[in-house]
Parts: sequence; C-alpha cells; structure tokens
Amino acid sequence: VRAARVHAFGTDPVVDDIREPEPRDGETLVEVAAAPVAHIDLTVLTGTFVHRPPLPYVPGTEAGGRVASSRTVPAGTPVRVRGSGLGLTADGTWRVLVAAPDEAVQPLPVGIDPTLAAVSLAPALTAYTAVHDVGRLEPGERVAVTGGAGAVGTLAVQLALRARARAVFALVRTPAKRAAVADGAEVVVGEAPLQADVDLLIDTVGGPRLPERIAALRPGARAVLVGYTAGTSVTFDLPRLLAANVRLLPLSMLHRRPPPALAAELLDLLRSGGLVLPYEVRPLASVADAVADVRAGRVVGRVAIDPRS
Ligand SMILES: NC(=O)c1ccc[n+]([C@@H]2O[C@H](COP(=O)([O-])OP(=O)(O)OC[C@H]3O[C@@H](n4cnc5c(N)ncnc54)[C@H](OP(=O)(O)O)[C@@H]3O)[C@@H](O)[C@H]2O)c1
Repeated sequence: VRAARVHAFGTDPVVDDIREPEPRDGETLVEVAAAPVAHIDLTVLTGTFVHRPPLPYVPGTEAGGRVASSRTVPAGTPVRVRGSGLGLTADGTWRVLVAAPDEAVQPLPVGIDPTLAAVSLAPALTAYTAVHDVGRLEPGERVAVTGGAGAVGTLAVQLALRARARAVFALVRTPAKRAAVADGAEVVVGEAPLQADVDLLIDTVGGPRLPERIAALRPGARAVLVGYTAGTSVTFDLPRLLAANVRLLPLSMLHRRPPPALAAELLDLLRSGGLVLPYEVRPLASVADAVADVRAGRVVGRVAIDPRS
C-alpha cells in the first residue's frame, strides 16, 4: 500500500509502496481519508525534536477515516486517529491504511465528516485551550492573537469573539492575509508591537520578537505561548521581562486530553459554520509540496493529504 516515508531526518518525504499493516491485538485498522500536514510533523521531520521515530518512518500525527477492521469498533465507523506516539515515536498517518492502537481511535459524533474532524479539530482544541483553559479569558477583556490568519490563530480569534472579548486584535504579517481573518477582529499588519492595552496575548508565532510583544502588554496581563512559526529561540532581558509583570503560560496539547464533550461541541460548531477554518485536501503524490507550503506559510487554513488519491 502507498505511504509517504522519510528516509533521513531533514529530507522530504517520498511516496513508497510498503507492506500492508497487520493489526495486532489491541489495534484497529483504519482507512485514511485525510491526514493533515501540520507543524508538529515538520518539527519531527527535522530530527531535532524530543521524539525521533526510527528511520525510515511514515510521518503524520493525525488522520480522519473509516474503520477497516477492529475488535472494538464496527467496520465503516468514521473515526479520528491521534495519539499513542503515531508519527512521533512510531509510524504515523500519511498512508492508506494505519494499524492504530485502539486508544488512539476515536469514533466521531453522528454526521461529522472524518476529513473535517482531521483537519480542524486539533487546531480548534488548541485554540479553545489557549483562550479558555490556559488564558482564562473574561468577557470584556482585550485580546491579541499573533498568526491571526493561521489555523490556530484564526480559531483563537473567533473563540475570543464568541467569548465576548471587548476587542480582538489579529496580527498578520502582510496585507494579503487580511481576508483570512475572521469578521469582528481588528487586523494589525506588520511586526510593530501593539500599543493597545491588551489583557491576553495568544502567541502562535514565537520567535525573536516575542519579548517586545510581551513588554507591550498591560502590566499583569497573560501571554499564552502556543507556537514558534517565526522562530524557536527567544532571548529575554530579565529586568525588562520582570518589569512587564506578564504571566507567561506555555501550552502543550501533547500533555492534555480535552474532554470528548468539548471535542463534540467544537466539531458541531465547525460543521455548522459557527467556527470557520478553510482547508484543502491534496493527493499523496504532492506530499513534498504540501510540506514545503506549510513550512513557507503559503497555506491559508490547513492542508491534508488523501493517501488514496
Ligand atoms: N502548543 C501546542 O500544543 C500546539 C498545538 C497546535 C499548534 N501549535 C503550534 O502553533 C503554531 C501555529 O500553528 P498553525 O497550525 O496555526 O500554523 P499555520 O496555520 O501555519 O499558521 C502559522 C502563522 O504563523 C505566521 N508566521 C509564519 N512565519 C512567521 C514569521 N516568520 N513571523 C511571523 N509570523 C509568522 C503566519 O502568519 P501570516 O498569516 O501573517 O503569514 C501564519 O498565519 C505552530 O508553531 C504549531 O507548531 C502548538
């Protein structure tokens, strides 16, 4: 069966023909309809992350599809697959058939398309966790979101507006991204620190200018650190950081298990258009281009691979 595989860290995935997986006890065989190409996958691909799967490996930490065979879930059931080291410490989801540990296979609520779940649930859960569980947004507060047109960013903007933030500033790099920001947000183009009195920063880009953004928040504000598309390293001037008196709140979804009821609620909003995240599904043959596009920030919303096409 066809799969995208990486033969050396730091190189692009190639399409290989691999042996059909034989599920062992406690595993479910899933036919993949859509496997997102996400930043976490690119991070694993570098070989510098805390998790390094043995080479050659099939990337992909997540997928949506249907059960092909299982002892626990009826065949044909639409499911989301994620967790148990898939694409992190073992082969992942960028392939037609995945033998996934049963605990990594989540049946979807009735009426939810597995592709929609695969592409949008993870960023929605991340955005929700950032805004509510970690950021503890209160109605009437002012929120800034960096990468405001990105997958997590655009959903964080929408969730902050739904939670009755007084103002939501969506920071984007170029005017071209203005159209990708949700209605109701104030778009801020460029990298100058915000002058507004911001209570909560949801930072999805990180990078060397993070200290400037933090110093510009109101004293006592919170900054949720979600991502690092603008760079993985930051140098803080400690006197400035302490004077800013901002609470830095790192978020790792790898260490969280959001309740199924929250996932169902977010999926329902995504299905009905209450939350919007554009996406595009591409054939397996274009996997290397998809990786390059995500890396370069050329994607609006999310991109996924359909390994069957
Ligand atoms: N902590 C967690 O558990 C967790 C969970 C999910 C995701 N993440 C991380 O969150 C980040 C965002 O994920 P995503 O799926 O939302 O990615 P995405 O859709 O690719 O969006 C990333 C955004 O980053 C911005 N960006 C890229 N390069 C930049 C640069 N050099 N300077 C400033 N902005 C830059 C882009 O802004 P423009 O649109 O203006 O070009 C883009 O909108 C990633 O680092 C990802 O690994 C973390």
